[in-house]
Amino acid sequence: MYRTHNCGELKMENVGERVILSGWVQKSRDLGGMTFVDLRDRYGITQLVFNMESDTGLCGEARKLGREFVVKAEGMVAERSNKNLQIPTGHIEIRVEKLEVLNSSNTPPFTIEENTDGGDDLRMKYRYLDLRRVVVRENLQLRHRMAIEIRKYLSEEGFMEVETPVLIKSTPEGARDFVVPSRMNPGEFYALPQSPQTFKQLLMVAGFDKYFQIVKCFRDEDLRADRQPEFTQIDCEMSFVERDDILTAFEGLAKHLFESIKGVEIEGSFPKMLYVDAMSRYGNDKPDIRFEMELSEMSDLVKGKGFQVFDSVEYVGGICATRCAGYSRKQLDALTDWVKRPQIGMKGLVYVKYNEDGTLKSSVDKFYDETALKQWVELFEAKPGDLILVLAGDRELTLKALSELRLEMGNRLELRDPEVFKPLWVVDFPLLEWDEESKRFHAMHHPFTSPYEEDLELFRTDPGKVRARAYDLVINGVEIGGGSIRIHDEGLQKQMFDNLGFTEEEARKQFGFLMSAFRYGAPPHGGIAFGFDRWVALFAGIESIRDVIAFPKNNAGRDMMIDTPSTISNEQLDELSLKVSKQPPK
Ligand code: AMO
Repeated sequence: MYRTHNCGELKMENVGERVILSGWVQKSRDLGGMTFVDLRDRYGITQLVFNMESDTGLCGEARKLGREFVVKAEGMVAERSNKNLQIPTGHIEIRVEKLEVLNSSNTPPFTIEENTDGGDDLRMKYRYLDLRRVVVRENLQLRHRMAIEIRKYLSEEGFMEVETPVLIKSTPEGARDFVVPSRMNPGEFYALPQSPQTFKQLLMVAGFDKYFQIVKCFRDEDLRADRQPEFTQIDCEMSFVERDDILTAFEGLAKHLFESIKGVEIEGSFPKMLYVDAMSRYGNDKPDIRFEMELSEMSDLVKGKGFQVFDSVEYVGGICATRCAGYSRKQLDALTDWVKRPQIGMKGLVYVKYNEDGTLKSSVDKFYDETALKQWVELFEAKPGDLILVLAGDRELTLKALSELRLEMGNRLELRDPEVFKPLWVVDFPLLEWDEESKRFHAMHHPFTSPYEEDLELFRTDPGKVRARAYDLVINGVEIGGGSIRIHDEGLQKQMFDNLGFTEEEARKQFGFLMSAFRYGAPPHGGIAFGFDRWVALFAGIESIRDVIAFPKNNAGRDMMIDTPSTISNEQLDELSLKVSKQPPK
């Protein structure tokens, strides 16, 4: 027998019991005649004691134990004289009478404790050691609990989990596909699904009116903290529903997760914000509404006063940061450098300090007198002690920069409490998005999203203004999920492909199966998919989804542990009828 208990469960009531524990040596300390070993497993840490006087040579053996050795220890549970109240087993220790080394270990390349000295790459290379750390393990435990609650809740609501294939046909969803060559069909490829979008729609045609799936999706896109090339969605679809039926159904799921996992009750229904309002008020389609500091456009107010910087640009706008008028020259210079970083891309920053004594001091006093600046104060409803920060430039870029500046000031003012949750629905996204590179409109979401019927005329006059019946769930500035009411009518779907510049032939080749399914009684339907990794990271209070994935890829899309992507042999290439034209760098 390897163990009677695990390393996280023994307490005072077990004192006097004979037990066997197995686990890893976290550390050992020699103190005079005693050796203490912290034994770790998935459940916790228990202290083992070896006493020079009472044991039979075990103390010597214990001293030889290295970090991460796997051992089995048998002995009596005793009350500790020096208690550790930080851990659940801190009241007791095991007086070891028998010790068996089950396996030795090389010295690990980094410390396997809460604060590790291992850098990112090293930890990823030895991810199986990193996963022994409590912080990482707890994230995966949270992920597991959330998956169980999702399955439980959705099943109780009548949703059925159905698996869809992983080797599919390329579907255009914005990112590039990962492709898989087919040995049996030389020159032909499968694509890995960017999402099960078309399959869940086909399941609706098949009559499975409430579908969900916790499913891996694959997208070959540039990576960021909240993006992985393979990630997990909670993918959902429903038939015979209108938008608000879907929003209500999934608000239910969100509330259930908040309650069961975070113990947080969210009252009332989630607010809905139009996409156009989110953009003008927050510069962003995923606003963090835990704090206000909304953007205000100032173009009309400030142009034509001889200040070339404002006169020459498309858009001038700003935010008002409370309690920041005391910012020093140095702090303002640092903030100016911050907006000039390439990621933000602004040329400079204009400020107005509304001092506590009611006086105004700005970086543009030469062009704007006190009367003019008072108008700025009124626009922002600023109070004494506030600091108005103004950016100017191309509209889109400046809104984006202001949005970043707002979040940065929110961080500095500690207005983004990770324990406060403010969900909202952003609704009525544009159906189409202009792409500069290809000089044509693309579907902002995907080509199956239904437009508002009353906007159909705009296809001919102003396609960028056509609104989609699409919505995103945003929590604390994170896009947790997105979906839409779908087109279920062959005619409208054809019109949509036409507007997206697909020829009939291309549409038939790529989506013939869906168009043909629409001819056999497709019900009205709609759905949503949530980024499961993002949701877990949000609940764990961390930014990077890598920390909630057992074996993630790094920013270059590499798995450092198994060292992939990697080359394949010439035999494999031959079998797949492939020829590689570029060799990877050595
Ligand atoms: P969408 O593309 O918006 O919609 O994806 C849904 C959600 O998935 C998450 N997500 C990602 N998470 C991690 N890494 C990525 N690379 C990544 N890409 C997306 C986001 C996003 O909100 N088929 C549609 C859904 C539908 O219409 O029902 C779709 O995939 O949280």
